[in-house]
Amino acid sequence: MRHSSKLPNVGTTIFTVMSALAHKYNAINLSQGFPNFKGDKKLIDLVSKAMNSGYNQYAPMSGSFVLRDALANKYDALYNTSYHPETEITITAGATQAIFTIITAFIKENDEVILFRPAYDCYEPAVTLNGGKSISVQLEAPAYKIDWNDVRAKISNTTKMIIINTPQNPSGTIFSEADMIQLHELTKGTDIIILSDEVYEHIIFDNEKHQSACLFTDLKSRSFITASFGKTFHNTGWKMGYCCAPEALMNEYRKVHQFNVFSVNHPMQIALAEYLQEPSHYKELSGFYQEKRNLFLSLIEGSKFEFIPSKGTYFQILSYASISDEYDLDFAKRLTTENGLAAIPLSVFNENRLDNKVLRFCFAKTDDTLKKAADILHHI
Ligand SMILES: Cc1ncc(COP(=O)(O)O)c(C=O)c1O
Repeated sequence: MRHSSKLPNVGTTIFTVMSALAHKYNAINLSQGFPNFKGDKKLIDLVSKAMNSGYNQYAPMSGSFVLRDALANKYDALYNTSYHPETEITITAGATQAIFTIITAFIKENDEVILFRPAYDCYEPAVTLNGGKSISVQLEAPAYKIDWNDVRAKISNTTKMIIINTPQNPSGTIFSEADMIQLHELTKGTDIIILSDEVYEHIIFDNEKHQSACLFTDLKSRSFITASFGKTFHNTGWKMGYCCAPEALMNEYRKVHQFNVFSVNHPMQIALAEYLQEPSHYKELSGFYQEKRNLFLSLIEGSKFEFIPSKGTYFQILSYASISDEYDLDFAKRLTTENGLAAIPLSVFNENRLDNKVLRFCFAKTDDTLKKAADILHHI
């Protein structure tokens, strides 16, 4: 059968490629972004309890009300802002599904979507599948600061959406309040939708404050926020997340969501609603990962890898520029096959595969794994 691909330039993702290579060569895998330690047994027990209590059939389309209500209370407590649990919050199969559904609900043929590179890999294919055009704002290594004049120059009357991600995967940088104000200034008075991917909202370091789009009234009125329980509660395999937006936007979102996934895992929603009643379950996360970041960085001190400490997420990028001028994908493959350590080359997230000799390492790993990884890095 002959068919023309809707995504001719897309192959297997780098995460699958590097994890398969890590498996084949029995390498330590700091490539894919998931913890290699267990999540809280209390939460697992709550899922069992929900299953045994009979929450085994379809949840409501927009999500179990108790969970939406718990999230509305969390936004109120953390950001002093309100999302109506009935009309402005939807529970999703991870942030990935929320992002895909948001883009599908709004992007039409030739609409332009601005994204900041290095960018997480699920944004662009969703834009392409819907006939839209991704417009890249390439951030410069090593600081990845946003040049707002560049953003201004790229906004046109066909700009339909701007996708932001703070804390940012893969760079480990964050948006400052000034960045959010710039974003507001550039988009006020327009209908440009902001998709604010905030999956790492609870993993932010050095007493920095997470700049959620919901903190800025005008931005909030045009924004979707996407979030992931997997990142926050150490269970990425559950694929549970949610999105929030003002009612008019959420109405359009749900038109697609109801046919895209209809509703998501019911017992986990019931369990998460109860687990969220205790704020320490997410408030302690930044401290927990800051210790992991500090440990990893202190362990690699004195190696030839250079870095600026990550400000958020559970990723640390390291420059190998003083070691080799090899293309980053080749260097990452060799690090895996010859030295037994897998990481992600940053070029895959950049415009035209720009290679700055930088790799991304996930430090959501046991201390023992981080020590073994650092040992390898010292010998490179
Ligand atoms: C920036 C970013 N957005 C979205 C996702 C997807 O989250 P989920 O696993 O909940 O689909 C990830 C996962 O790595 C991510 O890093």
